[in-house]
Amino acid sequence: MTRLLDRHGRALGALRISVTDRCNLRCRYCMPEAAYEWLPPEAILSFDELARLARIFVSLGVRKLRITGGEPLLRPGLSSLVATLAALPDVEDLALTTNGTRLAAEADALVAAGLHRVTVSLDTLRGDRMRAFARFDRVDDVIAGIDAARTAGMTGLKLNSVAVRGVNDDELADLVRFAWSRDLEPRFIEYMDVGGATTWQLDDVISRDEFVRRLAAELGTAVPLARADDPSAPAERWRFAGGTVGIVASTTVPFCGACDRARLTADGTFFTCLYAASGLDLRAPLRAGASDADLTALIRATWERRTDRGAEQRAALTVRGALVAAEALRADPHREMHVRGG
Ligand code: GTP
Ligand code: 5AD
Ligand code: SF4
Repeated sequence: MTRLLDRHGRALGALRISVTDRCNLRCRYCMPEAAYEWLPPEAILSFDELARLARIFVSLGVRKLRITGGEPLLRPGLSSLVATLAALPDVEDLALTTNGTRLAAEADALVAAGLHRVTVSLDTLRGDRMRAFARFDRVDDVIAGIDAARTAGMTGLKLNSVAVRGVNDDELADLVRFAWSRDLEPRFIEYMDVGGATTWQLDDVISRDEFVRRLAAELGTAVPLARADDPSAPAERWRFAGGTVGIVASTTVPFCGACDRARLTADGTFFTCLYAASGLDLRAPLRAGASDADLTALIRATWERRTDRGAEQRAALTVRGALVAAEALRADPHREMHVRGG
């Protein structure tokens, strides 16, 4: 099959599907406000609608699917969508990014439906800190979720931690040791100035280089590993004596040049960049009776026009603050990270 290329020659290869904009946590780098505008319930695509769009994306070259939210496990019956996506021919990798709070209850059903790996987000191992940082102390539930995922037979699990200076950056080595002890690959994500990060400031970012330096001080020498297995993967990886660590450096070392990712929101909006100001509404044509060929043409034309390099453009700014102000997010919730799916 000829690959679908954008204006910079980047092939469409991955699709992140957000199944809900709702979340049961309020991490301050993502959802720091007191109240939110939610997508209207009637706008949320059914599993049949989501699966139809996913199938079309796969026909255009997508090989990796990732289910996101909000918190995807808040969507009732998610396993039935997983089963449909897992059965799509040509999909080489199906994964889910979750905050883990409901994973213990869902792990068996997810595995039975064909999901074999998840990435769990957890920024602190301390309950009081999680309550202050994410509004609720669910540390024990998340750990129970990780254990349940392993017992259910999942492998290739990853732990995503966003570090914010002065908040949880004294826990870096603890998070690594925790992840290694449970056979997860720990990954640190540079705090990004996207979507809901309305109080973002550069001083609060722990950069990739600082992560490596500080981890090496506690865990010993860090040897960089090649990205050879997947040149489009957001994470760079290092080997320590005790295991490997990934770092997603989108703030200080953006990787737009190799970006193969499309994003679909729960209401059927197609984004070609995490930082894009707007996306393409696929729900309206879908519900107006568009054929697969019509939808394919829309998606194809949008990818072929794509020039996005959002993170690189942000990194090139000399003065940098939050990307979007809180009022603008209320006026257009599609700009929120929890709507766009991370
Ligand atoms: P794996 O297949 O498990 O390696 O998944 P992943 O790293 O693509 O997905 P995950 O959901 O774990 O995302 C990790 C972090 O990378 C999140 O904070 C995402 O927001 C960020 N991220 C993922 N894709 C992009 C992207 O295209 N651009 C930027 N700037 N950040 C991204
Ligand atoms: N900066 C970095 N990572 C973020 N995430 C959400 N908001 C931000 C931000 N401002 C992360 C979540 C999750 C992933 C999907 O995106 O912690 O791990
Ligand atoms: Fe891709 Fe946009 Fe992220 Fe760059 S900022 S890697 S173009 S999604």
